[in-house]
Amino acid sequence: MSYGSQAAKRLADKVIFITGASSGIGQATAREFASAANGQIKLVLSARRLDRLKSLSDELTSSYKNISVYYNVLDVSKIASIPVFIDSLPSEFKEIDILINNAGKAIGVDKVGSIKQDDINDMFQTNVLGMIQVVQSILPGMIERKRGDIVQLGSIAGREPYPGGAIYCATKHSLRAFTSALRKEVVNSPVRIIEIQPGAVETEFSKVRYYGDEKAAKKVYEGGEPLVAEDIAELIVFSCSRRANTVIAETLVFPTCQASPFHYYRGKGN
Ligand SMILES: NC(=O)c1ccc[n+]([C@@H]2O[C@H](COP(=O)([O-])OP(=O)(O)OC[C@H]3O[C@@H](n4cnc5c(N)ncnc54)[C@H](OP(=O)(O)O)[C@@H]3O)[C@@H](O)[C@H]2O)c1
Repeated sequence: MSYGSQAAKRLADKVIFITGASSGIGQATAREFASAANGQIKLVLSARRLDRLKSLSDELTSSYKNISVYYNVLDVSKIASIPVFIDSLPSEFKEIDILINNAGKAIGVDKVGSIKQDDINDMFQTNVLGMIQVVQSILPGMIERKRGDIVQLGSIAGREPYPGGAIYCATKHSLRAFTSALRKEVVNSPVRIIEIQPGAVETEFSKVRYYGDEKAAKKVYEGGEPLVAEDIAELIVFSCSRRANTVIAETLVFPTCQASPFHYYRGKGN
């Protein structure tokens, strides 16, 4: 997408740190920032799958001659490893300007009473405890430098809970509460707190939710036209390239065929 020269100017030379950059929204956001800034950015790409990060880094460095990319493994569910990762960033990537706090997941659709304890732990550890520690490790530097954007990947699940999603919805409600408190705490600084709340986006999200079952994952979107990762990436980049006096505080975004977790129009015959 073309954002015009203003956006490219505002993004120029920014250090952008993305968690969960190996797939879906995180990966598309890395590409979108690179495109909007004509490569004039420094990207830190993290996730657990190093091979995916390497291919993305190779793709970006061969497409943009001026881009700088650092990538490494970061499992945000391992809380203690987060400050270590941030502290060990190479010097040119240390002063993070934009954080895309994106790593997250839903696992399973079990109802309360039969939800696997491992799934509960994984979702809370990643979506809540990891998400919080990433902010805790990066925010103080932003406050000190008097600049920074924090983009939190919320969800419609953080606004409207649904059956079969009790834990995932609880994690995204936690994210929303944390994010709203944070925005109030930093209102006296130039740091902007942005929450994006997508509806149905077809990524690897449902494959992960259904333990790798591709057929079950496809069924979630059948008959309708879900969002794709690039739709959310465009919103993220748009939000981060507004004038410094503007904060896109919250954005709820559905595919046109969706109006809530319960209203997903599947067209004729569904
Ligand atoms: N897709 C949707 O419908 C939807 C809707 C609303 C909100 N969201 C939110 O959007 C975010 C991105 O999801 P997506 O749709 O892009 O799904 P995705 O394609 O499954 O991507 C999820 C990313 O998170 C990473 N991740 C998972 N566990 C991690 C961990 N412990 N440590 C570090 N990285 C981890 C994955 O990388 P590795 O496996 O390589 O670690 C992957 O890069 C999530 O927070 C999700 O809750 C998605």
